[in-house]
Amino acid sequence: MGRTVEILTGKAELCRSIMGALPDWFSEPEVIEASALAVEDLPVFGYIEADVVTALIALKPHLPGAVEIALIATRPEYHGRGAGRHLVDAAERFAHDSGARLLTVKTLAPRGRDEPQFEATRRFYDRTGFVRAEVFPKLWHEDHPCLFMVKPLAETQPGRTAL
Ligand SMILES: CC(C)(COP(=O)(O)OP(=O)(O)OC[C@H]1O[C@@H](n2cnc3c(N)ncnc32)[C@H](O)[C@@H]1OP(=O)(O)O)[C@@H](O)C(=O)NCCC(=O)NCCS
Repeated sequence: MGRTVEILTGKAELCRSIMGALPDWFSEPEVIEASALAVEDLPVFGYIEADVVTALIALKPHLPGAVEIALIATRPEYHGRGAGRHLVDAAERFAHDSGARLLTVKTLAPRGRDEPQFEATRRFYDRTGFVRAEVFPKLWHEDHPCLFMVKPLAETQPGRTAL
């Protein structure tokens, strides 16, 4: 059983380390570097198991309404063990405490290719309560259609007791 903590220092290096271990998803070094620099200025939470940060999530507030998951990634050897779900829970608590009503994420939309890794990512968001809201075919690039997903926040947040 691990724990979720806010990461306050070394965010860029952590991002490089975890994204760099996921070449099936993040194959371009420029994308990893841009993400590493971007997360330095964002709230970041990590999931820790036996002193290893096994997963991270970076959040981009669009207040007052929404908080976006800018990045979520779990080290490959820890996939499927619950770290991602714990971090989505942390994002929900952060969003709720910020007064937001929605958690959002943008991911690659299906594009008629055999890409099981990206389908797995979409399934992860399905399983953690996101709704496939809209596809934006050219928001990023015509070869990279964007799927916008949203999760309405519950009145009572995970791990919280209603008053
Ligand atoms: C997406 C990712 C962060 C999920 O992290 P994870 O720690 O493996 O996820 P969890 O173990 O917490 O799984 C949470 C739920 O998603 C489901 N899920 C996870 N991986 C899945 C897969 N490959 N296929 C189908 N469902 C999956 C789990 O079954 C679980 O649902 P359940 O609790 O109802 O059984 C991880 O696969 C990853 O790092 N992917 C590469 C990076 C990436 O795609 N980031 C997002 C970019 S937009």
